[in-house]
Amino acid sequence: MTFRQFSTRDEAYSMAIQLRDAHLRAPLGLKLNELDTAGEDQQLHFGLFDGQRILACVSFKQLDDKRMKLRQMVVDPSLQRSGLGRTLIANAEETLMKRGCLEITLSARASARAFYEKLGYRAIGESFVEVGIEHLKMDKSL
Ligand SMILES: CC(C)(COP(=O)(O)OP(=O)(O)OC[C@H]1O[C@@H](n2cnc3c(N)ncnc32)[C@H](O)[C@@H]1OP(=O)(O)O)[C@@H](O)C(=O)NCCC(=O)NCCS
Repeated sequence: MTFRQFSTRDEAYSMAIQLRDAHLRAPLGLKLNELDTAGEDQQLHFGLFDGQRILACVSFKQLDDKRMKLRQMVVDPSLQRSGLGRTLIANAEETLMKRGCLEITLSARASARAFYEKLGYRAIGESFVEVGIEHLKMDKSL
């Protein structure tokens, strides 16, 4: 299994889009649309791969020179709860720290709250509804 960064021009990005559509959007009765992917050429994309096959992916949007927003985190369902999510985020955090990032923020699905807490993220404020499901703002200082 390898960790690597990819761009929107790479084949890996098309595979990430399929993973996101199938496992983040379709279960909600939604389809990934142009609004979801707008500006992604300016964002950072990371994945775990088995050869050319994508196993997990996550993207980061720059908020300012010290803060990034984590988005679109998903692990292939057949591999969930086997440490891939933790490995992907740990590798991504290390890469972002080297670029000068000091804080990561995200809108976490309430169902994933415990996962992020185990990785050192903390919930802030009231929950809210996004794409029809409960979310929480969370953050972590690197
Ligand atoms: C949430 C998700 C990214 C976690 O990735 P994962 O590879 O399954 O998580 P890991 O195996 O690395 O788990 C790391 C730790 O978090 C725990 N954990 C993972 N998912 C959890 C969950 N949903 N609830 C409670 N704990 C969870 C694991 O048990 C593990 O704990 P441990 O270190 O004490 O053993 C993955 O399950 C997923 O893609 N879910 C569907 C999409 C989704 O909800 N994405 C997040 C959108 S905000």
